[in-house]
Amino acid sequence: MAILVTGGAGYIGSHTVVELINAGYEVVVVDNLSNSSEKSLERVKEITGKEITFYKADILDRDALEEIFTKEKIDSVIHFAGLKAVGESVKKPWEYYNNNITGTLVLVDVMRKHNVKNIIFSSSATVYGTPKEVPVTEETPKGECTNPYGWTKSMLEQVLTDIQFADPSWNVILLRYFNPIGAHKSGKIGENPNGIPNNLMPYITQVAVGKLERLGVFGNDYPTKDGTCIRDYIHVLDLADGHVKAVKKLEENAGLCIYNLGTGNGYSVLDVIENFEAATGKKVPYDFKPRREGDIAVNYANAEKAYKELGWKARYGIREMCEDSWRWQSNNPNGYEE
Ligand code: NAD
Ligand code: UD1
Repeated sequence: MAILVTGGAGYIGSHTVVELINAGYEVVVVDNLSNSSEKSLERVKEITGKEITFYKADILDRDALEEIFTKEKIDSVIHFAGLKAVGESVKKPWEYYNNNITGTLVLVDVMRKHNVKNIIFSSSATVYGTPKEVPVTEETPKGECTNPYGWTKSMLEQVLTDIQFADPSWNVILLRYFNPIGAHKSGKIGENPNGIPNNLMPYITQVAVGKLERLGVFGNDYPTKDGTCIRDYIHVLDLADGHVKAVKKLEENAGLCIYNLGTGNGYSVLDVIENFEAATGKKVPYDFKPRREGDIAVNYANAEKAYKELGWKARYGIREMCEDSWRWQSNNPNGYEE
């Protein structure tokens, strides 16, 4: 039996495919390559020495999904496929709701027709909105999202929760990721953003590699120790491992489970710059810029529940995250493009 990984050519998906293969699982990937390159899967093959069954298809394409579920012996799905650029989602809400929500509804419908009722869904700490207290636990109430991307995550959590409630033979695991950074130790796979990065770490690595001139630090007047925002950065290898542990949980008939995947440690933007410089010996020139709309001052996880119930705990610290992000970027200055 195989695990279908939607969005498996992407950043978190490709790292998870490596860990699943290393753990002995058979994997089938479906991805429309709208935000990724098939080269990531060639690199996964180099890392693992295993062929990967890959379908270039859109999860909105019901016929394509029908064909995959008919041909392959799928018993669970890890669902990464989705659009994820916050700013773009504000400009193109229809595209985000259609791709992420309709795409998931089609996927889940085809799953149930084929009696596949195990799903792990990529959610985000963004569903907490502006939390009243940190660290956030899974009991912390969900909040108002500041953009359509965030709402797709929040709404899809509800959709999957309701489906599991109506039919308890479903097993649904919602994983709320904090801020994934880092890359595989081989330096062969990593984050490959299109155009100018929106997120902090890819921006930093592109400044360090000389593709961008200076980093803008968004806001230095937040109520934090140095005035810059605090986040819970988590190594993508730890996230990937979290998915392998979640697959094991599915095998125990989990019902509905929600887990934060974070380290429990908060680092400010300036902490990240300092750690990056210390880890790599590269200078990251920066200027303070006004606050970015929609940013919250502090967010980090309480990840005790994932530890207690999945036996999962983040292993890597911020220094190693920086080293590994840099190894990927410096080996591949243009990502997967030659
Ligand atoms: P990514 O863009 O690298 O990967 C997503 C993959 O899905 C891409 O390969 C893309 O081509 C594919 N895809 C998108 N729409 C598709 C469709 N309709 N049909 C088939 N494939 C499609 O992003 P990522 O960083 O690896 O994120 C993976 C998941 O985790 C996403 O759902 C994202 O929203 C979620 N997430 C990411 C972060 C983060 O910071 N990276 C944080 C929280 C949650
Ligand atoms: C953002 C999204 C979140 C999404 C996540 C992963 C918002 C409000 N949140 O999280 O929904 O799940 O990305 O895609 O957009 N920063 C700079 N300069 C930069 C870039 C970032 O100072 O050039 C700062 C930001 O202000 C923030 C921190 O770095 O304080 C982290 O930013 P980022 O990597 O974009 O992640 P989040 O905003 O936490």
